[in-house]
Amino acid sequence: MCGITGFIGYENAAPLLIRALKKLEYRGYDSAGIAVIHDKKIIVRKMKGRINLLEESLLENPLDGYTGIGHTRWATHGEPSDINSHPHTDSDGRIAIVHNGIVENYIKLKQWLQSRGIVFRSDTDTEVIAHIINYFYRKGHGSLLQSVIEALKLLNGSYALAVICADYPDRIIAARKDSPLIAATGGAGSFLASDITALLEFTRDVYFLNDGEIAVLYQDHIELRNDEGDLIQRETTHIDWSVESAEKNGFPHFMLKEIFEQPKSLENALRPRLKKDIIDFEEIKFDKKWLEARRIVIIACGTAYHAAVIGKYAFEYFARIPVEVDIASEYRYRNPIFNKNDIYIAISQSGETADTLAAVRLIKQNGGCVIAITNAPGSTLSREANEIIYTYAGPEIAVASTKAFTSQVMCIYLLALELGRARSYIPDTKKYTDELCEIPDRIRKILDKKEIIQRFASRQYNKTKMLFMGRQFDYPVSMESALKLKEISYTHSEAFAAGELKHGPIALIDSSTLVISFATQTALFEKMASNILEVCSRGAASLVITWEGGGFFDALNSEVFTLPKSEDCFSPMLAVIPAQLFSYYCAVQRGNDPDKPRNLAKSVTVE
Ligand code: AGP
Ligand code: GLU
Repeated sequence: MCGITGFIGYENAAPLLIRALKKLEYRGYDSAGIAVIHDKKIIVRKMKGRINLLEESLLENPLDGYTGIGHTRWATHGEPSDINSHPHTDSDGRIAIVHNGIVENYIKLKQWLQSRGIVFRSDTDTEVIAHIINYFYRKGHGSLLQSVIEALKLLNGSYALAVICADYPDRIIAARKDSPLIAATGGAGSFLASDITALLEFTRDVYFLNDGEIAVLYQDHIELRNDEGDLIQRETTHIDWSVESAEKNGFPHFMLKEIFEQPKSLENALRPRLKKDIIDFEEIKFDKKWLEARRIVIIACGTAYHAAVIGKYAFEYFARIPVEVDIASEYRYRNPIFNKNDIYIAISQSGETADTLAAVRLIKQNGGCVIAITNAPGSTLSREANEIIYTYAGPEIAVASTKAFTSQVMCIYLLALELGRARSYIPDTKKYTDELCEIPDRIRKILDKKEIIQRFASRQYNKTKMLFMGRQFDYPVSMESALKLKEISYTHSEAFAAGELKHGPIALIDSSTLVISFATQTALFEKMASNILEVCSRGAASLVITWEGGGFFDALNSEVFTLPKSEDCFSPMLAVIPAQLFSYYCAVQRGNDPDKPRNLAKSVTVE
C-alpha cells in the first residue's frame, strides 16, 4: 500500500521526507504530499502524480520546518486528485494527518461531524480523522496525545497514522492498527516510516509498532505508549540489510536487478540451512507435531500463493503428506475445517498482507500453530506466527515479486525434504541437497542467455493473448508466469494445467495468441508435445521451455529455450527465470515502468 514518512529533528524536514518517500515509491501510489510546521503554522503541499512533481514544486518554492509528515497515497475512498491527496487538515488548519488504511465507519462519522457544521473538502475516509482529533482537542482534552487516543477509539478499520499539530512543533504522534509503521531515532533526528527501506540510510535500530500502539517522536527520542497512553518499554531491533541492497546498482530497473540477484538470494536461503549435507532449520523444531501431522495447510496470496502450490507438489512428493493450499482471502471466509494435528504455513514476502494476516489470526484462534515463511524481519506476520522461516532475499523493491518467490520455493523444498527424511520417506537427503546447491549456478547460466528472451520478447510483446501451460511442477510455474506478465506488461495472460487445454482454453487459440509451454516433467514430455502441437496447428506462436540436451521438442514449429538439466522436481526455480525475463522485456517494450506497474501496490495491507 501507500507510504508514510515523518521527521522531527535538526534539519529541514521537507527534503528528508521526500528522500524517504522515494524509497517507498515501490509500494505503489497515485499521489504524494507533505506537511511541515513552520512558524507555528501547518503548511501542506500535495498533488496527484509522482513524487518528482512534488519535489519540483518544493525546489521552486521550498518549505522550511523541522517537523513534518509525508505520504504517498493509494486511493481507496475518492479518486486520485490534488484535494484527496494527504496530508489532510482539520477545519482550523492546526492539525495535519497522513493515513494509510481504511476507516470503515467513516460515513457515520462524517455524518456526525457534518451535523456539527464541519465542511469536508475531500472525498476521503481519512479526513474524518483530522476533524475528530480537532473535536477532542477543542473540547479541551488537555493534550494532543489524549485527543488522538480518544479519536482512535472511534475508528473502525485499519490505520497507520501520523499527526502533527501547529501548537506542538516538538512532536509527531503516530499510531498503528493493521497497517505497518516503524519509528527510529538516528543522527539527524527521529524518523517514522511504513517500512525499513525508507530508513536504512538514516539508522538501523528501529522500533516496530504493534497494533494498538502509539509512538510519540521527539527530536532526540521516541516514547512508545499503549492505546490508553501508558508508557511501554521496548528494545529497538537492529536491521542488517545494506543500503546498497535497496539501490539499483547500475541496473535500469529494480526488477531486472532482483531477477539477477537470484543466484545470490537462493544461496542465502539455502546455505544457513545446510550443515554438512544435512538440512538443519535452526528456527524450526521437527518435533512430534511434524511427525504426527495428518495434513499441511498452506495459505498465501498472489505470487506467494504460487510458491504455496509448488509446496503442495513438493510436500506430497517428498514427504507423502496431504497438503491443502488456499488463497488467504478465500480461506478466511469459507469456514475452513481446523484440526490441531495439522501444520499451518503462511507465506508472505512482506509479512503485511491483510488477508494472509487475517487467515493466520483465524488459524490461531482455532488452536492452530502457524509457521511463517517471510522475507521481512519485524513484519506483523513474523511477530504473530508461532515459528518463522526467513527467506533472506534482502529487500525486494520492484512491485512484481521475483527473488522473494524463488527464495520462498527454496525454503519450501528444504522443509519438504527434511520432513520426508524425518517421516522416513526418503532415506537420505544428500542426493537432493547436492542438486539444490547447483541451482544458483544454473540460474547464472540461464541469465547469461537473457538476450534470447529479450529478442523473443521484442518479436512477441504485441500479442494480445498470452497463455502459459504446464503439467505437475510446471503448472504453478505457468500460474506465476502469467501473473508476472499481466502485472507489468498489462497483457491479457492466463495459465492452465496443460491437461485442461481441451476442456476450454483451446477455444482462445488463434494467430493472435502466444503460448508458452513449460516442459520439464520428463515422464510427461509426450503429453506436452501433443498439447504444443494442438496450439501450433491452430496458428498460435509457441515457446517451449525445457531441459537442454533432449531435443525432444525441436521439431514442433516452436522456439525452444533450454534450462541446465536438473531433477525434474526442482524445475520451478529454473523454469520461472526465463518467464520473469520475458515479462520484464515485454513491459519495457511496451513502454511501461516494470518497477511501478499501474494500479498495483507492493504490499496489500487492506482487503
Ligand atoms: C507479486 O508479483 C504481486 N505483486 C503480489 O501478487 C504479491 O505476491 C501478493 O500481494 C502477496 O504479497 P506478500 O507476499 O507480501 O504477502
Ligand atoms: N483510505 C485513504 C484514502 O483513500 C488512505 C489510502 C492509503 O492508504 O493510501 O485516502
